[in-house]
Amino acid sequence: KIISKTCTGPVNIAVIKYWGKRDEKLILPINASLSGTLDQQQLRAKTTVAASAGFTKDRMWLNGQEQSLDNPRLQNVLKEIRRRARKRKSGCEDDLDMLTWRVHICSENNFPTAAGLASSAAGLACLVFSLSKLFNVDGDISDIARQGSGSACRSVYGGFVEWEMGKEKDGSDSVARQVASENHWPEMRVLILVVSADKKHVGSTAGMQTSVKTSPLLKHRAEKIVPERMQAMIEAIQKKDFESFADLTMKDSNQFHSVCLDTYPPISYMTDISHKIVRMVHAINAHFKKSVLAYTFDAGPNACLYLLEDHVPLVLGFINHFFPYDVNNEQYIRGLLSEPQK
Ligand code: DP6
Repeated sequence: KIISKTCTGPVNIAVIKYWGKRDEKLILPINASLSGTLDQQQLRAKTTVAASAGFTKDRMWLNGQEQSLDNPRLQNVLKEIRRRARKRKSGCEDDLDMLTWRVHICSENNFPTAAGLASSAAGLACLVFSLSKLFNVDGDISDIARQGSGSACRSVYGGFVEWEMGKEKDGSDSVARQVASENHWPEMRVLILVVSADKKHVGSTAGMQTSVKTSPLLKHRAEKIVPERMQAMIEAIQKKDFESFADLTMKDSNQFHSVCLDTYPPISYMTDISHKIVRMVHAINAHFKKSVLAYTFDAGPNACLYLLEDHVPLVLGFINHFFPYDVNNEQYIRGLLSEPQK
């Protein structure tokens, strides 16, 4: 007998960035962060998990290739799911049996992995969501997703999502929570400009470790800047104040990349084309005499633009005019927002 579940999980794009951990094992951040979860029509992870008494060990395939599960993060995730399932099911013999079964995990993304397109977030959120369905674990699972990859905890919910930093040592209060649902701001769009689908030169995990050790700006950012910025961002979203939302988003992206440069040795994720996109966005905003477009860059050169539906045709016109060869023609336009789906 084999029991299986297949689910899909969304990408999220942070507008207040997570960069730096205070606990490497539990993946606890040094600051809160906030993102929009994208709908799953074009970009998503898809995972099938199967359990059977006949499987001899846990195994996993990513985009068709077998991966080692000998990885502390994945082990923690599996352990925690089984622990919660056991807690829930004690007293029910049949189900308890299933908890000793090994699982096979098959996961794929329909977009470039590790190119700064938040693939780990979608993948890990989807994995944890699928396992929770397989083992009938309910309640908040964002803290389990967090232990797979920090930013993955935000992909567990749709709409705009905050990852609370938390104070507890065991991480119990470092969880994701929805700030506004997908229906709150239906005009919101995200346009992803794929500048390069290459693997990033320094992965986020290693990059933020070096930043925590060497960047004085990071400490200042975490203590003095982010707490106020989080409040202002939540207010901008609640009021649907696009100008404030855009200004905060761009400033936060710029500060995150400044922290990367302040890291020693420095890390640079943005390329000349990324910087040219930044200049274009500011030129468009200057023309309108207000911010109608916001850029944000993660640990890679690709740009994510947040904008309102009305401005999409105009902005696409500018992009095709200024970047006819530099930006992948399949620019993804995304609406916000959807949570993982069974
Ligand atoms: C720049 O979540 O990939 O995208 O917790 O080590 O797995 P780990 O890092 P990860 O870092 C994402 C960093 C970021 C900013 C963000 O999404 O908030």
